[in-house]
Amino acid sequence: MSGLIKEACSKTGQVQFETAEWNSFHEEAGEERMKYDFTTILDRRGHDSIAVEPTAWYNINTETKPGFQRIPMWVADMSFPTCPSVTKAIADRLSHPCFGYFEPREEYYEAIRFWQKERNHTDVTKEDIGYQNGVLGGVLSALRVLCSPGDNVLFHSPTYIGFTNSAGSYGYHMIHSPLKKDEQGIWRMDFADMERKIIENNIHAAVVCNPYNPCGRVWTREELTEMMALFEKHQVWVIADEIWSDILLNGHVHVPCHSVSEYARMHTVTQYAPSKTFSLAGIVGSYHVCFNPWLNDRVKKESQITHYNQMSVLWMYAMIGGFSKEGTEWVDELCAVLSENINYACGFIEEHFEGVKVMKPEGTYMLLLDCRDYCTKTGTDLLSLLKRGVEYGVLWQDGRPFHEEYGIRMNLAVPFTLVKEAFDRLDRYVFIGGNE
Ligand SMILES: Cc1ncc(COP(=O)(O)O)c(C=O)c1O
Repeated sequence: MSGLIKEACSKTGQVQFETAEWNSFHEEAGEERMKYDFTTILDRRGHDSIAVEPTAWYNINTETKPGFQRIPMWVADMSFPTCPSVTKAIADRLSHPCFGYFEPREEYYEAIRFWQKERNHTDVTKEDIGYQNGVLGGVLSALRVLCSPGDNVLFHSPTYIGFTNSAGSYGYHMIHSPLKKDEQGIWRMDFADMERKIIENNIHAAVVCNPYNPCGRVWTREELTEMMALFEKHQVWVIADEIWSDILLNGHVHVPCHSVSEYARMHTVTQYAPSKTFSLAGIVGSYHVCFNPWLNDRVKKESQITHYNQMSVLWMYAMIGGFSKEGTEWVDELCAVLSENINYACGFIEEHFEGVKVMKPEGTYMLLLDCRDYCTKTGTDLLSLLKRGVEYGVLWQDGRPFHEEYGIRMNLAVPFTLVKEAFDRLDRYVFIGGNE
């Protein structure tokens, strides 16, 4: 976060930076101009967004006080306009007014191959790729190949709520190995606990999230190598959810799980999507990469069983638009913007919110606050704290369904001025005394 921007914010108290203003601050600080727009504050109301118009499953049931605009900081989508090459690709296709049955074009496979090579240094063939209507569906298709309902499956905790809901409703028995914070407050896998649970529960399938939602770890090659060696020892197959692989902060590098050993390559099915990267969740679609021909064939078969698990032509074009040269430039800028947001927020928390701990995320745009000490010290229960945030327009998320007893999950993929506004409100009105 450049000091200039901080200073300018506090001087003007303005709610909106235009891209030009952002650029001039960065230029004065000797930084490069932003080519793309990450500063316009989009009014998402009335535009099909649960981020600002939450549905019944947003469990913090309270009104926002008049005069406080709602800041969308919960569900994992972004409040930035997407990459121009995405909207252009969709618009170009819309100009031909016929949308019948179709087969994916060669450019679709080429786009994935380009992206995988460019971002993950991975060579992928057309045959290695499969389609699914969403990453959670892909995780479930792979689980259906590898386990029967009632089988034990290894997950880490805190756990992404989508895993809990979907694996639970399909009848898999989730065994959690808790991540633990080390002396520096960094979330780590507990390999001894994982091994014990694998043996005790006769586990042969694990779901690994990389980068990790909600804790923000980008697993290192060393960590993944140790994890895969453990899985090899006990013949555990891996479903790697790498939906967040493009959202890397402060220079962290994504290492695909499948890349760390020959065992990993032949026993992993990896789920990817452009949805987090370009904010395309509402267009729906994902793909998997799998180098084991048997596993790949079985997962493709499972995912096609319903017949309705078919690609939308607009998703195909959105993805082709995103997985392009322009897409790489846009994502690089996005990651720089998100890094600034995260750095600012974590610095602010440390400076202002006594009793609140957070590991600075290395990837994803989600923060997981640990409010245990704050709640204990001030005699505040978590729900009252959550409600206080929503009353002042900070639409954040209850961390308890992610298995974090005093957790609050916050989405920082909003323009910087909204991050600043949200943290100012939290400071002024929310992290105060006890229950009101
Ligand atoms: C780790 C992870 N997997 C899957 C999903 C959902 O993906 P999809 O909407 O493609 O099912 C999310 C969304 O937040 C996620 O964080």
